[in-house]
Amino acid sequence: MDRNEELYLIKSIAEMLNRETSMKSMLQQVLNQVLELTNLHTGWIFLFDEQAGFELAAFSNLPPALDYQDRKYMCDGKCRCINRYQSGMLKKATNIINCERIEKAINEKRGETEGITHHASIPIQSGDTIYGLLNVASPYKENFNEDELYILELIALQIGTACERIRLSEHEQSMHILEERNRLARDLHDSVNQHLFSIMYTAKGTTKATENEEVLSSLEEIYQSSKESLAEMKDLIWQLRTDNIEEGLSNRFENYAKRLRIPITCEIRVQDLPSNVETTFWKIGQEALNNISKHSDATETNVIIDQSDRNSYTLEVIDNGRGFDLNEVSGQGMGLTSMQERAKLVGGECRITSINKKGTTVSVEIPMKEGKANE
Ligand SMILES: Nc1ncnc2c1ncn2[C@@H]1O[C@H](COP(=O)(O)OP(=O)(O)O)[C@@H](O)[C@H]1O
Ligand SMILES: [Mg+2]
Repeated sequence: MDRNEELYLIKSIAEMLNRETSMKSMLQQVLNQVLELTNLHTGWIFLFDEQAGFELAAFSNLPPALDYQDRKYMCDGKCRCINRYQSGMLKKATNIINCERIEKAINEKRGETEGITHHASIPIQSGDTIYGLLNVASPYKENFNEDELYILELIALQIGTACERIRLSEHEQSMHILEERNRLARDLHDSVNQHLFSIMYTAKGTTKATENEEVLSSLEEIYQSSKESLAEMKDLIWQLRTDNIEEGLSNRFENYAKRLRIPITCEIRVQDLPSNVETTFWKIGQEALNNISKHSDATETNVIIDQSDRNSYTLEVIDNGRGFDLNEVSGQGMGLTSMQERAKLVGGECRITSINKKGTTVSVEIPMKEGKANE
């Protein structure tokens, strides 16, 4: 590559990086562009994540052996380049790592490798933060020269800066959403809630102005239903408010159960749940507690969060109430269905078992991401 070609490469990548606002799409596009402009054939990018280990965030032209079964060999387990990164040894572009993933695919006879045996690994970083790894390879290429590594490092530095910019803007957006939720909660509190309150007291007050039985019974109905709506509104507002998001899960469940006036013991045996798992457990747990309060007459409720064999996270909500027949309610309530849907969204499963007069158990299992599970 001559000097002009190099400058063209750097410029067109910088332009693209500047435009992109989504991490995955940025990484895929930059990878395509790098391969196209450098005449390298194959590439992939691992993205690191404190909670979930690593993730295959972009890839291009993987040989069949690596593409095998939804890129099983790319996503499972660790390899030399990830180990080097995690032991702090991968600070700059590294020439040729003979790839453990490819070796494994070859050993297990998973199809063609199309001459790909080695790759260069370049850390994607900004300041002290390493965001991921850019790996590139070409058929039968076992060596990258200094110039190639230098240019790849330059590109990876640019990608690192783009990663930092996108992470910051994602953070800003999520702060914005939190603010918006708090604003909605405040507005609902100040408007709808106050109206309900005044309807409730007007109904109560008006009873003094009449002795007509029919009117009195209507007023009582208005009073009761506005009182129930007020209670539901209060729950909704509480769920919307984000100051309770900062609380630990165990406190949140205990406070929620207190509001619903049900007894609860809560055991959380895992620290640092990934945030999507925590949110899923919280939402499903809330609905399970709602059901216990509305339908069960339970005298004991247990919430247990644990992990099984380092492969999955589990939530159990157990009550000793009256139980119910699952066949009778199937397809009726939104609550049970939405619990199951929520679990599926994060690749997990929600099972409900119930025994007449003995109680009900809601069990949720969410598999850990590969990178974490294999640590
Ligand atoms: N913990 C529980 N104890 C007893 N019955 C329950 C429990 N959870 C759910 N049910 C039964 O299952 C039905 C469906 O629940 P759900 O889908 O949440 O709908 P909803 O709560 O709106 O009725 C409830 O109406 C109730 O009969
Ligand atoms: Mg329900």
